[in-house]
Amino acid sequence: MKNPGADRQQEVYGQGMLMGETPDIPPNFEELEQRALEAMSDEAFAYVKGGAGSEDTVSENRRAFRKHRIVPRMMRGVAERDLSTEVLGQELPAPVVLAPIGVQSIIHEDGELGAAEAARDVGVPMCLSSASSETLEDVSEELGETPKWFQLYWSKNRDVAASFVSRAEDAGYEALVVTLDTPMMGWRERDVSHGYLPFLDGEGVANYLSDPAFRDLLTDPPEENLDAALSEFLDVFGDASLTWDDLDWLTDQTDLPVVLKGILHPDDARKAVEKGAEGVVVSNHGGRQVDNAIGALDALPGIVDEIGDDADVLFDSGIRRGADAIVALALGADTVLLGRPYAYGLALDGAEGVREVLKNFLADLDLTLALTGHTTVDDLDRDIFAE
Ligand code: GLV
Repeated sequence: MKNPGADRQQEVYGQGMLMGETPDIPPNFEELEQRALEAMSDEAFAYVKGGAGSEDTVSENRRAFRKHRIVPRMMRGVAERDLSTEVLGQELPAPVVLAPIGVQSIIHEDGELGAAEAARDVGVPMCLSSASSETLEDVSEELGETPKWFQLYWSKNRDVAASFVSRAEDAGYEALVVTLDTPMMGWRERDVSHGYLPFLDGEGVANYLSDPAFRDLLTDPPEENLDAALSEFLDVFGDASLTWDDLDWLTDQTDLPVVLKGILHPDDARKAVEKGAEGVVVSNHGGRQVDNAIGALDALPGIVDEIGDDADVLFDSGIRRGADAIVALALGADTVLLGRPYAYGLALDGAEGVREVLKNFLADLDLTLALTGHTTVDDLDRDIFAE
């Protein structure tokens, strides 16, 4: 992807100055979030925005960014930028991937198909959640040739886990992103106070209800007894008994590159590499799992130093704007994953809202890259910081 910032500036300023039209989707994250609050049900908004416990980890994720101050460099010939980069041996148009957010039907009726349509139109890869409201096959079809990864919630039932992996392979997903930090949901005060868990409404379970191995566990098909199917889903969703040795079983199930998500300690990153992972996602699940946890960005440099030569290091949790991506990339991330901003775009206007958020994000990223004195993602390193 070349110079998306210049194109976007031309588009928005042209529309504003020549046609008197201002964007429907706010470019400002805080306003976007406020508008999403108005567009969604209280329960759904709380589910997306919320974090574990006091939500201190959500705040810490943002605080971690403020510790890094960029020193822009001048006169470096930045007229032509190329945002493309290689991750997991795959060429990505830009160092941005849609993070695996589940249950998107509670955000907007377009759900994951809307996010996929926008990803395809803008050229941003998508990592689809196991807990999607549309089947992984349908989302893959919507994505077409857009790079696609599948996020696995490793079910307690091994037949279901194996079936998800083989379905993802058959549907053309190019990496398996295994979330380690959520064998069960964290304690989320907003959801507890609403008594709200969307899966019990039958949302976010499309991959399960359509799965042959999952259906084999049921006495009656979900079409006849949804409550029993949802109760089975809760039973088999995660597996808190897993240990590092179990990964051998998972890597035996697939030829796809395996990426382990939720890594925050360098020793866990090393274990991941020893167990055959081709990458890790440094992430605290957007602050949704453990209160008072380390800001994900604070964990990034130590993990890059430990395994950066042996595996790819991906990053999420706290990315809101282009400069956030620049900071994470300069600290050694190979790509970032964007979460809540696109969920809020979806809330405001479905696929079109996600398209707008992505175009703004890429513009901001491109212009910040140039204005700090760089033309490619690979140019970025820790020398950009004041410290
Ligand atoms: C599930 O992954 C969640 O964070 O709600």
